[in-house]
Amino acid sequence: MPPLKISRFYIFIAIILILLTGCRASATPTFTAAAPTTPTTVVTELPPTLEMKAEPGAPGLGDSLYPHLGNAGYDVQHYTLDLTVNDVATSDLEGTTIIEARATQNLSSFNLDFIGFEITTILVNDKPAEFQRSWQELTVTPPGVLAENEPFTVEVQYQGSPGEMDSMAIQIQTGWITFDGGSFVLSEPDGAASFYPVNDHPLDKATYTFRVTVPEPFEAAANGVLKETIDNGDTTTFLFEARDPMASYLATVNIDEFDLETSQSEGGVPIRNYYPSGLPEEMRKPFARQGEMIDYFSDLFGDYPFELYGALVIDLEFGAALETQTLSIFSKAMIDANQPEGSEQVVAHELAHQWFGDSVSLADWRDIWLNESFATYAQGLWTEHTRGREELDEWVRRLYAFVREERESMSPPGEPPGDRLFNQGVYSWGALCLHALRLEVGDENFFDILKTYHERFADGNARTADFIAVAEEVSGKELSAFFDSWLYSEELAPIPGMGLEAK
Ligand code: TRP
Ligand code: ZN
Repeated sequence: MPPLKISRFYIFIAIILILLTGCRASATPTFTAAAPTTPTTVVTELPPTLEMKAEPGAPGLGDSLYPHLGNAGYDVQHYTLDLTVNDVATSDLEGTTIIEARATQNLSSFNLDFIGFEITTILVNDKPAEFQRSWQELTVTPPGVLAENEPFTVEVQYQGSPGEMDSMAIQIQTGWITFDGGSFVLSEPDGAASFYPVNDHPLDKATYTFRVTVPEPFEAAANGVLKETIDNGDTTTFLFEARDPMASYLATVNIDEFDLETSQSEGGVPIRNYYPSGLPEEMRKPFARQGEMIDYFSDLFGDYPFELYGALVIDLEFGAALETQTLSIFSKAMIDANQPEGSEQVVAHELAHQWFGDSVSLADWRDIWLNESFATYAQGLWTEHTRGREELDEWVRRLYAFVREERESMSPPGEPPGDRLFNQGVYSWGALCLHALRLEVGDENFFDILKTYHERFADGNARTADFIAVAEEVSGKELSAFFDSWLYSEELAPIPGMGLEAK
């Protein structure tokens, strides 16, 4: 569901965008033919020698809404975050992030995205490197050139407390947030840089290790599998491994005192839920059917994409939930005991994102409807599964009426503005597009489309054009006019099969 009411002042830093969009030409190796040798008996030409020419990696990946996010010139395989939190009340911490990457060009320097903290040392391939900082751009200049295709490691050591991070996309604070009693991380789309140096764009997915040390009696929870808990006396270290490729904004570290609840879906997917200790029983109820949901969505979308799943509840009353990979996060307002049906829908929504958003990730933030509309429509699918087709139709009618009424506050699903990325156009309007597609191609084709799309792009990235191509391929229909009218037109398209029209 869309994050609601944390009111914070929002600053759109347009100047920075303009400053950072200039991409520099990528390195081209030059070939110099060797001087011909003096002919004796045999004349041979020596092979051309490669003269290594290196250039800085570009400071952005050219996202159409946020061109400065991420960096070019390298590809990260793995992050190891080693965080020692000395004071939970302020999140004062010492951090070491080790990045294992591969150069995709000859690099004289490269950028990471990282905000705040005092950086004490940066090592590249274990040798001290120079660095410069300018807002979220951290430019690292290693002692020698990093050759194209070669692996390299970067170790960044830092200390301090994560700063506040004003997202340019959404009117809430993103990243690592400290509250009275603990801390949590919600980073979509640009908060990851608030607690680790990162190539911050979903195009560069990587695996993660989290090693988090917290003072007693606190506990830490992160993405992936808890491999080890080490009792150091006054502190405890929690070691998590996330072995599936993950977009940077989905990385999360949460600190609190938890009640851990473990189970398994019937289909065998392990579930572990982290509740803040003492969370009332009725606030745990919305999660009771997660196992059933996992198995049902696995039938519809293809096997659950990761090793395990679970929910984590933040001990705070505000409205936000995020599909952090393998461990979705919910604030207490999202699982309101007075609205059990709505709460269960939020649980279904974040779970569906594990397929659409997490396993299949965006290649460009403008295509956010590929995440949000799919997760929203999955709420309808869960309603249909539990309460029947008529209830789904009712749900669609209500959604249609809502979009028609609130049309002015929404963007067409395929064209969200950069400063209101998560407006209802990409949730509700886009979910209607999926229902209309279902009626257009028939149930069998529709579910085949969802499965094929997931299967083809699992652990990778997709664009709107990729989804349309799958829909056309599977259904055998030409759908460009259909998708144009649903994704890019300013007018809400009709759903003739249900007698729904915008006027
Ligand atoms: N993707 C979230 C959802 O499930 C919404 C969201 C985007 C969000 N950015 C966020 C939630 C930051 C909390 C914090 O709809
Ligand atoms: Zn969502």
